[in-house]
Amino acid sequence: MDFLIAKDDLHRCRFLDSEPQELAHGQVRLGVDAFGLTSNNITYAEFGERMSYWSFFPAEEGWGRMPVWGFAEVAESRNEALEEGVRVYGYLPPSTDLVVAPARVDERGFIDSSAHRAGLPAVYNGYLRVDADPVYDPQQEDRQMLLRPLFFTSYLIDDFLADSGLLSAGTVVLSSASSKTANGLAFLLANREGIDVVGLTSARSAEFVRGLGVYDRVVAYEDIQSLGQTAAVYVDMSGDAQVRDAVHEHYRERLAHSSVVGATHHDRMAILPASLPGPRPVFFFAPDRVAKRTREWGREGLESRLAEAWDPYLEWTTGWLEVVHADGPQALERTYLDLLDGHIDPAKAHVLSMTR
Ligand SMILES: NC(=O)c1ccc[n+]([C@@H]2O[C@H](COP(=O)([O-])OP(=O)(O)OC[C@H]3O[C@@H](n4cnc5c(N)ncnc54)[C@H](OP(=O)(O)O)[C@@H]3O)[C@@H](O)[C@H]2O)c1
Repeated sequence: MDFLIAKDDLHRCRFLDSEPQELAHGQVRLGVDAFGLTSNNITYAEFGERMSYWSFFPAEEGWGRMPVWGFAEVAESRNEALEEGVRVYGYLPPSTDLVVAPARVDERGFIDSSAHRAGLPAVYNGYLRVDADPVYDPQQEDRQMLLRPLFFTSYLIDDFLADSGLLSAGTVVLSSASSKTANGLAFLLANREGIDVVGLTSARSAEFVRGLGVYDRVVAYEDIQSLGQTAAVYVDMSGDAQVRDAVHEHYRERLAHSSVVGATHHDRMAILPASLPGPRPVFFFAPDRVAKRTREWGREGLESRLAEAWDPYLEWTTGWLEVVHADGPQALERTYLDLLDGHIDPAKAHVLSMTR
């Protein structure tokens, strides 16, 4: 069974039951066990066409399968290197199963070499065996599904800002400060000396964001003029054009860099005005940074740095993040629509399963 979203109207969704595809030699059927759902997945759908997110898990004409991160098990195998029962973590469709064509199979996992995934960023095509994953902890599967891809991004942004000398601006302003990608970045920046970490958020989330304790200041979107007269870097998770323009208007030439990371406010995006003061916003694409750091540090060098940062972060999230489980198609549809419309409490995160 697949959860399908209409590409031209993200509010239109349905389930499709179909006959399991027969496996060709070398292929494997993964049974999708569970996956996390956050605004990040909504952004995959929103940018499904423009950034090829619909291309990972093709569906019938006009419909898409929004990618999710989660755990799956080999349910059927026609690949000698992978036996039934192997459990993996990776990029999955919101479906009961996924047929992959494993290549580069080793004790750590494999990549899906299916033809339709060949031109897509490599970071999304890898599946990690849990029995060889240094970050894996069976007690922490929920948080891994929900937070690993987001914290990975937070880590890469923190690394990028430091690597580019941008932290000398002294102030980093993050929008959608309540989001997990933003507060993971704030957590990392808070561990650096002398950085004023400012969270921009909606009035309804301000108290929650203050309570996280990783932002030096929390400012509501309506109060951007109170940000202060320092230099700053802007990291935009909201994609909100009005917020972006107000931040640029406020800092003007004191803005050292403007990074576009996300679009949680996906209904408030607008094209960049030519007259926008300050630097032109630059899109931050995590897979590009992964490729760069993998070249420079090697795959293991990057992974070990991440693993080191991951444990204290995970520990910190246990103090504020409540994981909510829901099973079955109806729960998936309801959670998806709530996320799409921004009706999710930032202190909660949702793990879904279509098979449990
Ligand atoms: N470029 C990359 O490589 C990359 C990688 C990972 C994540 N990201 C992006 O980072 C963003 C954050 O993802 P996340 O999963 O961390 O988010 P999340 O934790 O689910 O964020 C929830 C917060 O987003 C805002 N929000 C969500 N939906 C909204 C709506 N419909 N209307 C208004 N506000 C809404 C609210 O924050 P406020 O009230 O504080 O605004 C809400 O508290 C996503 O856009 C994601 O795609 C990008």
